[in-house]
Amino acid sequence: MKGIRIVATGKALPKKSVSNEELSSIVETSDEWIVTRTGIHSRFQCEEESCLTLAVEAARAAIESAGISKEEIGLILAASTTSDYAFPSTACMVQQQLGISEEVTAFDISAACTGFLFGLGTARALLPQLPKRYALLVGAEQLSRIIDYTDRSTCILFGDGAGAVIVESADHEFYQKSWSRGDVSALSCHGPGLGEQHIRMNGSEVFRFAVSAMEQGITEVLQDRNLTMEDIDLVVCHQANARIIGHVQRKFRGYEDKFFINIDSYANTSAASIPLALDDLNKAGRLKGGSRIICVGFGAGLTWSSALIEL
Ligand code: ACO
Repeated sequence: MKGIRIVATGKALPKKSVSNEELSSIVETSDEWIVTRTGIHSRFQCEEESCLTLAVEAARAAIESAGISKEEIGLILAASTTSDYAFPSTACMVQQQLGISEEVTAFDISAACTGFLFGLGTARALLPQLPKRYALLVGAEQLSRIIDYTDRSTCILFGDGAGAVIVESADHEFYQKSWSRGDVSALSCHGPGLGEQHIRMNGSEVFRFAVSAMEQGITEVLQDRNLTMEDIDLVVCHQANARIIGHVQRKFRGYEDKFFINIDSYANTSAASIPLALDDLNKAGRLKGGSRIICVGFGAGLTWSSALIEL
């Protein structure tokens, strides 16, 4: 079966950035605590923007960067936990706002922070059946909508933003493993009409799960493909906490430099975190043709996934 090629990336961020100092004026915390426990210095927060406007802007940036016409897109997927509407889907609204044909399938993926990676696997599976060459995949979040600003252990962790990629079917290596486990107690947020809609999290439980899930994801993908970290150019982890990534790095001693971290100015942007990282890497010229990367993420569900991607 064919793999996929990442053709282009894009991103969108709200104008307003909120520093740790600013947060410490509304909740009992400090810049020092947040930086040492999470690696986060600031995060973006929507004012005029919304999850949808960010998704549209990131999608537009990816299409422009790919240099393709929107008529060549045959599938639109959006991963988000904070869509503007419970329905219609964010993907449908991106389609409408970009003026993409009604004949194109558009739907959302619900897998919290792992949504972008589940979307990548879905695009890979569907692309060979489509009459058009490209799929648009967006990860977009307005997590500031569901943050409880009286809960200091969660409100410091999250940020708003969106990232997008254009992908096509290609004879490039692509191998993915994904897992799901129904678990509400570690990490959840009520759906519409079910009371207050805030992120509720058992931080230390999620921390332990995150380290083992990402280690498992990287290890199994390498083993299944008969590869070692020597064969990998970059590891792009879901950016939830720099200390979580630090623990995973220590499991792969000697290869710490291959792990990308950009959480400092974005915080945890859930489904947007991996596409935001990919766009930053792309703009920095670090997504080189022929190289191999592993994208690995985890999130509410609990869900987790690891994808080996040849660029
Ligand atoms: N400022 C100051 N003190 C704080 C803060 C804060 N913002 N938050 C918690 N504390 C205090 C606690 O009250 C506690 O005090 P106590 O010892 O007096 O009771 C102390 O700091 C230690 O608290 P811990 O929860 O043990 O702190 P920890 O080092 O575990 O860090 C954190 C907490 C950052 C939440 C960490 O557990 C974590 O990152 N967990 C994973 C979170 C994550 O990855 N979530 C993913 C969500 S993905 C998705 O799908 C949405």
